Amino acid sequence: MYSYYVENTAVSFEYEAPTADEFVMRIKRTTEKYPYLVCVDDGKVVGYAYAGAYSTRQAYDWTATTSIYVDKEYRRKGIGTLLYNELEKRLKEQGIVNLLAGVASCEDEDEYLTHDSSKFHLSKGYTQVAHMKAVGKKFNRWYDLLWYQKRL
Ligand SMILES: CC(C)(COP(=O)(O)OP(=O)(O)OC[C@H]1O[C@@H](n2cnc3c(N)ncnc32)[C@H](O)[C@@H]1OP(=O)(O)O)[C@@H](O)C(=O)NCCC(=O)NCCS
Repeated sequence: MYSYYVENTAVSFEYEAPTADEFVMRIKRTTEKYPYLVCVDDGKVVGYAYAGAYSTRQAYDWTATTSIYVDKEYRRKGIGTLLYNELEKRLKEQGIVNLLAGVASCEDEDEYLTHDSSKFHLSKGYTQVAHMKAVGKKFNRWYDLLWYQKRL
């Protein structure tokens, strides 16, 4: 699921899809402190969402980053909403008050990047708080990074 986005889009700034073992390591590391949620439909993983530390400095302990991926064939069916609602609920329960999502962006959509993630985050009550210009280069093009924030 994730490798599609790594290999064909600028949604993720990784160039190479992680191996299954590496992916497992990432999940393990995440779940030491944060939720990692998976949406399964009839035995098939159709989406996942997780949180992470924005920074390990202690004053940031009430702030978490959020990430989400929905299978390309299952988008716009409410799965992202389902995952983010549950993630938020659990983060709230553990005392997190600030959510931050870093979203790859470009002024005009191109064959590698749409504005879907921005639209999704705005619809979930996030607001754009930062715009970093041309910080990621992928497929020989420069992409911006927008930060969206939501106060719980
Ligand atoms: C962004 C993403 C997670 C959204 O998940 P989803 O399951 O498709 O989202 P939902 O169906 O819950 O949509 C919720 C709302 O978000 C907005 N939205 C989501 N996708 C949209 C799109 N393509 N165009 C316009 N609005 C969109 C709409 O307001 C939508 O509500 P509506 O369908 O009632 O109009 C999904 O498109 C995805 O995985 N994209 C690729 C990976 C990615 O960009 N991840 C985020 C990295 S920061």
